[in-house]
Amino acid sequence: MKNWLFELEGVSFTYPGGVTALQEISLAIVEGKKTVFLGANGAGKSTLFWHLNGLLRPREGHIRYRGEVIRYERAFLRHLRQKVGIVFQDPDRQIFAGTVFQDVSFGPLNLGLRREEVCNCVMEALAMMDILSLRDRPVHLLSHGEKKRVAIAGVLAMHPEVIIFDEPTTSLDPEHEEELVNILEKLHATGKQIIVSTHDVDFAYAFADQIFVLGGGRLLACGEPQEIFADPELLSRAKLRKPLLFEVGEFLRKQGLCLQGLPRKREALQHLLEVG
Ligand SMILES: Nc1ncnc2c1ncn2[C@@H]1O[C@H](COP(=O)(O)OP(=O)(O)OP(=O)(O)O)[C@@H](O)[C@H]1O
Ligand SMILES: [Mg+2]
Repeated sequence: MKNWLFELEGVSFTYPGGVTALQEISLAIVEGKKTVFLGANGAGKSTLFWHLNGLLRPREGHIRYRGEVIRYERAFLRHLRQKVGIVFQDPDRQIFAGTVFQDVSFGPLNLGLRREEVCNCVMEALAMMDILSLRDRPVHLLSHGEKKRVAIAGVLAMHPEVIIFDEPTTSLDPEHEEELVNILEKLHATGKQIIVSTHDVDFAYAFADQIFVLGGGRLLACGEPQEIFADPELLSRAKLRKPLLFEVGEFLRKQGLCLQGLPRKREALQHLLEVG
């Protein structure tokens, strides 16, 4: 039997101004799979993520976390948010003030950890995000990409079992983007549940085990990357495109190469071309 991490049943949400951002979404996220929500701007990705740790409450439908329906009472939400951490798309919504060290300490301090434990968690998270050198800098003077890394460190420092990353790679330079992908892989390998949103089809193709495609607040499809990107009609409806590596792989397959499965990472393509 599969273990469901989250199950959404008939979830709809309308913002106070009247914009319906989610419409009758039913889906189930399997535990242990690197999960990607893929969708164009305004598809509803962030709105859906805010539902996963109870920041927003569905107008209709309900959500289960590990089989238990999310309840919107203080104690339940506090417990849920210790287990489910979200890195917001906009770091200015996540980071507060003071120095980088103070900001990243905020979560662990709130969990009631001792000073020494807090310090260890913070230093570990700063090292992971390659921002140890920024530890005494005021957060409001950092660049956008640096703020993004501070926001991620803030969530890592709390050691949640599920980490939800809303568009984590935007504003990162190529080196830090690659590092972040390595961090996501590492977190997954150490047993964390990783859920990511993006409109970057190349990243989604290389990273995801399961993909949910959103468009206009609806779930348009779910499946493995190979299934999702083999459907041009779906991609066009979702305002997305095929990943470059997927296209190259399809081309190579037509030429009689790579019959075993399309390469999903650059290194796999290089290897394929070298061995012929
Ligand atoms: N606070 C809000 N009040 C009213 N409407 C909102 C609010 N936040 C988002 N929306 C609307 O809800 C819809 C879904 O927005 P959402 O931010 O969830 O999309 P998204 O897929 O995360 O987009 P992006 O890729 O640009 O981050 C959009 O039409 C958006 O304009
Ligand atoms: Mg968003």
